[in-house]
Amino acid sequence: MIARDALARDLERARRRTLTLTDFDDAELRRQYNPLMSPLVWDLAHIGQQEELWLLRDGNPARPGMLSAEVDGLYDAFVHSRASRVDLPLLSPAQSRSYCSTVRAAALDALDTLPEDDDDIAFRFGLVISHENQHDETMLQALNLRTGAPILTPRITVRRGRPGLAGTSVLIPGGEFLLGVDAETEPLSLDNERPAHVVDVPAFRIGRVPVTNDEWRQFIDDGGYTQQRWWSARGWQHRLEAGLSAPQFWNPDGSRTRFGHVEDIPADEPVQHITFFEAEAYAAWAGARLPTEIEWEKACGWDAAAGTRRRYPWGFDEPTARHANLGGDALRPAPVGAYPDGASAYGVEQMLGDVWEWTTSPLLPWPGFTPMIYQRYSEPFFDGDYKVLRGGSWAVAADILRPSFRNWDHPIRRQIFAGVRLAWDA
Ligand SMILES: [Fe+2]
Repeated sequence: MIARDALARDLERARRRTLTLTDFDDAELRRQYNPLMSPLVWDLAHIGQQEELWLLRDGNPARPGMLSAEVDGLYDAFVHSRASRVDLPLLSPAQSRSYCSTVRAAALDALDTLPEDDDDIAFRFGLVISHENQHDETMLQALNLRTGAPILTPRITVRRGRPGLAGTSVLIPGGEFLLGVDAETEPLSLDNERPAHVVDVPAFRIGRVPVTNDEWRQFIDDGGYTQQRWWSARGWQHRLEAGLSAPQFWNPDGSRTRFGHVEDIPADEPVQHITFFEAEAYAAWAGARLPTEIEWEKACGWDAAAGTRRRYPWGFDEPTARHANLGGDALRPAPVGAYPDGASAYGVEQMLGDVWEWTTSPLLPWPGFTPMIYQRYSEPFFDGDYKVLRGGSWAVAADILRPSFRNWDHPIRRQIFAGVRLAWDA
């Protein structure tokens, strides 16, 4: 059974994040920082619109809602590209806030009267919590692309790292494990994480921690961006066209810009803002490769001694600041080695939090995939030009993250909070 009080708590947490990330004046909310991103005011009302659709309109866009059909349609992400949203006749910031709060009040009323045994409807609340938190991360990507004096400051400081871990690896012995999850074990898991099924994975090695800025600097200094031999044909083509010579937000003077703050690049922090193609080239230069998402999930969630999956890499305790850097308040990844208590059964660290990690895997359904009520969440993206990212960045809410969680993006994207962890054949 899905706990109703946890849903109410997680709805509230997500909304607090959303309101913090949109607590700016009207002109700011209407700005488009980059064509890759929506103006914040679109995300804000879209969060409410999706909540109304899934919780109050039975997932049926033809069923009348609180907005007129024309306005409702402005918030359909499949109809209006991100680049075009700034020119739409959107709700004003005040209208958007008021709409979100009216929807939320009705949603909480619906939650109060939901029968205890109705997990189908309770699942929709989980979907809405996941959706809102995912948009909060998207808004952080937008705010990071914003130019001008900083308007966001960190609300927590990250933990100190431990030296000597960068470049080290862990052996994951070969053998079967249970990939994915089911509704019984993870009732809020999304369609693409299901069903659980046994797969056999040959032995491999995986980085104990993600690749650091210092390691990436060595790649640059060694001509990594100028020697075609490290790159795939497509990756090299993209490198030339996009003029890539360092991670996004690294400045020519050796500093970096993060949410408008210009600062030294911390040597022991996981590198972020690299494309899949850069990750692949780095791995080739380092004599390694990227993991598959199946390898990644085994290293993260499998407890071979117990012959079972763990709920989190470290076990079954709910995530805390002792386990992982999550929730978005840090505005940055933590240095490698900062979370020994968050290590997986195999001793792999920082698998949840800090940076999304590129894998070699295209987004495909697991065998026996069944779409959930939000049918367009995963299905339109199967067999597209998408690479799976695993692990969740510092900007992901702990409430929605699991070792089975799958994210995906085009291999050229790097405004996302993505880094890399290496793997090797054993
Ligand atoms: Fe959305």
